[in-house]
Amino acid sequence: MMKKPVVLLLLIFSFRYVLSQHIASKDTSDFIAVKSKVYTNGAVSCAHPLAAEVGANILKKGGNAFDAAIATQLALAVVYPQAGNIGGGGFLTARNKDGKLIALDYREKAPSEATRDMYLDSNGIADTHLSQDGHLSAGVPGSVAGFFAIYKYARLPFKELIQPAIDLARNGFAITAFEAALLNRFKDDFITYNGNNKVSFVKDSLWKAGDLLIQPELAKTLELIRDKGKKGFYEGETAKLIADEMQRGHGIISLKDLKNYEAKDRVPLQFDYEGYKIISFPPPSSGGLLLEQMMKMTALFDLKKLGFHTAASIHVMAEAERRAFADRAKFMGDPDFWKVPDSALINDNYLKQRMRSFDPNKATPSDSIGAGNPYESHQTTHICIADKEGNLVSVTTTLNGLYGSRVVVKGAGFLLNDEMDDFSVKPGVPNMFGAVGGEANAIAPNKRMLSSMCPTLVLRDNRPFMIVGTPGGTTIPTSVFQSIVNVIDFGMGPAEAVNAPKFHHQWLPDEIIMEEGFDDKVINSLNAMNYKIDIVDGIGRNEMILFEKGKLHAVADIRGNDGVDGY
Ligand code: GLY
Repeated sequence: MMKKPVVLLLLIFSFRYVLSQHIASKDTSDFIAVKSKVYTNGAVSCAHPLAAEVGANILKKGGNAFDAAIATQLALAVVYPQAGNIGGGGFLTARNKDGKLIALDYREKAPSEATRDMYLDSNGIADTHLSQDGHLSAGVPGSVAGFFAIYKYARLPFKELIQPAIDLARNGFAITAFEAALLNRFKDDFITYNGNNKVSFVKDSLWKAGDLLIQPELAKTLELIRDKGKKGFYEGETAKLIADEMQRGHGIISLKDLKNYEAKDRVPLQFDYEGYKIISFPPPSSGGLLLEQMMKMTALFDLKKLGFHTAASIHVMAEAERRAFADRAKFMGDPDFWKVPDSALINDNYLKQRMRSFDPNKATPSDSIGAGNPYESHQTTHICIADKEGNLVSVTTTLNGLYGSRVVVKGAGFLLNDEMDDFSVKPGVPNMFGAVGGEANAIAPNKRMLSSMCPTLVLRDNRPFMIVGTPGGTTIPTSVFQSIVNVIDFGMGPAEAVNAPKFHHQWLPDEIIMEEGFDDKVINSLNAMNYKIDIVDGIGRNEMILFEKGKLHAVADIRGNDGVDGY
């Protein structure tokens, strides 16, 4: 078995785990990432301890989970530039203290000048370099519109939510070993896509853990948002800088695209699983639909009896994953442009019929299932927040690839996404990580590209039970699926559920990718069933808050610098 160099280098960096009343990891820079801790009043779990601290401080000073969600995302845009962002987009699933369910879509959209064949040359050959790198790969950013859409549920003055991010950008912060290694790895790209523009991510010598990353231009952009609101980004000086940047690099985002961008309210997706209510995100993310399909197909079997990480349980789950992902490629896209047959896809009889070809002794070949899809970026980021009032927030946000397009808007200091690559640039042509699609996810002006993000909540007896989510491209819904069943079916605590090795099948390529840590006997049994297995470095970085006896047990994945905070 070959070991695939998956994007997550996380385990390469040595973390020291301290087991006491909580688990903590110490990066070589100067902070401790608390990995698992029980809080009484409010908790945040996210990809960077400094951002978790910002969110927790907002909760402590009387903000609610929505306030903290805004402040944490803004802080991540500074301290976690590989995926935290103001130049990308995201999805928020929430339940407020009165039980109202919320699904906010602030996904990027195609610029109005985008065309279906914009990445094809005169011979009809797709140039995915253009959809993945540089100015033309950027969709119209949605994050800032998202913050203001979330703000209607928040309480504190917006300026208090954004100030910690401004301070971190202006004064700098010590970077982790993980960030230092990635900034060094992407140095040439930053130079290629930004020419002579001085960007904060490039310095003459190599970055090392503990170095200060100072981002004065980003601080100024954040101040404009603080002082002028949404218009401080989508109009005026910052919009002009984005339009100038587009002109410099032959991108197509216009002033009008920026001015017209709006976050959208979607109808949260809800379904029952083993007595629990699962709430997740509908299209334009495929995440919630895939989760529902996989969980309903799996519910046809007794997972608990099959046992955790046995060949039999992995087989059932992988076959459900395979079938769900086959549907993704053909049927899922932006619902404002494409009629997603959502109720048919989650119909119990349909899913029963999908599993009729399941053979308990053999993998089902993917070419006998139909349709097509594969890998997307692992670089996205998830935030879970709960407050003492009962508000629950689950947010996944992304630039798509690591540092997105690697284009830093000159004078504005923030990275633009390369989300256009999440469209199907041509039927059957794989995107950056092998994903293929067709008509449902073809490029059209102002259309949102299909996502796999899956910010999820779980209720039991109509009361909060779990907040969960992860980055990981197409592995997102399968990781969330496994983290949930690890708790519900296999009786694990939250840290065990999050940190357990994960596996992933997405129909095409016809293989299971698995993290290290599975029993050799299980691997051999799966091989004997005709599964092709690829061992990879890391799948996802799940964050979770589990409600235990009136307390909040917050967990951050051990696979990264991720941390929790609360009070
Ligand atoms: N760009 C990753 C996703 O939206 O699924």
